[in-house]
Amino acid sequence: MKMDVLALFPEIIAPALQTGILRRIQDADRFSINVYNLRDWATDKHKTVDDYPYGGGAGMILKPEPLFAAVAALNTESDAQIVYLTPQGTPLTQSLVEALSLESHLILICGRYKGIDERVRQKIVTTEISIGDYVLSGGEIAALVLIDAIGRVLPGALGDFESAHEDSFSQDLLDHPHYTRPAEYEGMKVPEVLLSGHHEKIKEWRHAEAIKRTAQRRPDLLQNLELTDEELALLQTSENKSSC
Ligand code: ADE
Repeated sequence: MKMDVLALFPEIIAPALQTGILRRIQDADRFSINVYNLRDWATDKHKTVDDYPYGGGAGMILKPEPLFAAVAALNTESDAQIVYLTPQGTPLTQSLVEALSLESHLILICGRYKGIDERVRQKIVTTEISIGDYVLSGGEIAALVLIDAIGRVLPGALGDFESAHEDSFSQDLLDHPHYTRPAEYEGMKVPEVLLSGHHEKIKEWRHAEAIKRTAQRRPDLLQNLELTDEELALLQTSENKSSC
């Protein structure tokens, strides 16, 4: 996977690429990422990248010329997905992360101020992504969220590749509870089944807990799933318990 990032504040993104999983997958040649300053494609001596909005109003708009020039310079094979980070985009989900992780080349555009000239969106942007229903001061942090989420599902990113596919959301369920030693802490005990060494029972318990937790915290996620009779019975029992 190759990724290029266009930003007005590349220094927000660059340090995070030097640690943890993102560092490791770059070292292992699984991931190649470069962060560019959009000003490098400005053509005047003041390196201007923004201008006033036609029609008036508050805030500046990122000009089309530097963005068109930057994307043309980076998308040499013309095979890149051009991703614009914006609160108006498709909400980011784990399945979107996994789909994007299969692309060979992504170019991320980080907005600033009031956003980018609409013609860039019409002509070259292929995907618009939002990381949530709130407004950040720019797209850099949103890009970092996307980079991190993609980086950790790339092959070889995690010691045990399976674990990215077993964790929260990979099956549209929230994660089950986790425990580590000690087996008892200030009177609070680790559930017996986890100490049993019985792998099948542990798997069942974890799945049941994931379903219960999802039902309590994110019932909307369960609507996408076809639950088995056993799973439905489980939910009924836990609902009855919580209403007692
Ligand atoms: N830029 C500003 N806010 C954003 C958001 N919520 N998601 C993606 N990009 C953004």
